[in-house]
Amino acid sequence: MKIVCVLGSPRKTGNSATLAGHFLQTANALGAESQSFLLNGLRVKGCQACYSCKKNSETCVIQDDLTEVLAAVSEAEVLVMATPTYYGEVSSQLKAFIDRTFSYLVPDFLSSPRPSRLTPGKKLVFIITQAQPDEKLFADVFPRYERFFKWYGYTDCHLVRVCGAGHEADMLERRDIVRLVEETARNILT
Ligand SMILES: Cc1cc2nc3c(=O)[nH]c(=O)nc-3n(C[C@H](O)[C@H](O)[C@H](O)COP(=O)(O)O)c2cc1C
Repeated sequence: MKIVCVLGSPRKTGNSATLAGHFLQTANALGAESQSFLLNGLRVKGCQACYSCKKNSETCVIQDDLTEVLAAVSEAEVLVMATPTYYGEVSSQLKAFIDRTFSYLVPDFLSSPRPSRLTPGKKLVFIITQAQPDEKLFADVFPRYERFFKWYGYTDCHLVRVCGAGHEADMLERRDIVRLVEETARNILT
């Protein structure tokens, strides 16, 4: 099983990247083939709203470091998106990637029974961390994006969410969350 992981935090060893690492380690041990992209290290433009992907191209026409990421994601069966919460949202690095996934939609995506160019039946794992311990706050992030990714054909969507993770090393003490992310990997792979 091919897994592509996009890391939205600028912190290479932060909470979201640490959890994504545990997910991939478990998945790889079960025979998955995985590839990770640290978005913060890439030269990336936001969507230019040129609509070329709806007029004359099947893929995003912007040629930058996201070109390879978008192609890898479209070929993988599993997408892992890991992000910190910034101002109640995903990080801007991850948001730029998500906007460019607009190219996965066919021209008549609003009316078509098959709105996505992607093979159906893919799996999404969304890892979201936040400093705020109150889990009612920012709980809207996952369901909002889940709707769009279901549209793309990610029929099986999983959330691993951590509240109260304000420091970079907080995951070292959260064995419960680490176990949850490893269990999520096992569920998906077996
Ligand atoms: C610019 C910025 C904005 C943030 N906004 C929020 C927020 O709105 N809510 C929250 O709970 N935490 C917020 N945080 C804290 C991070 O979401 C939290 O520390 C997260 O666990 C960091 O994940 P990382 O280690 O993977 O980068 C913010 C942090 C930064 C740097």
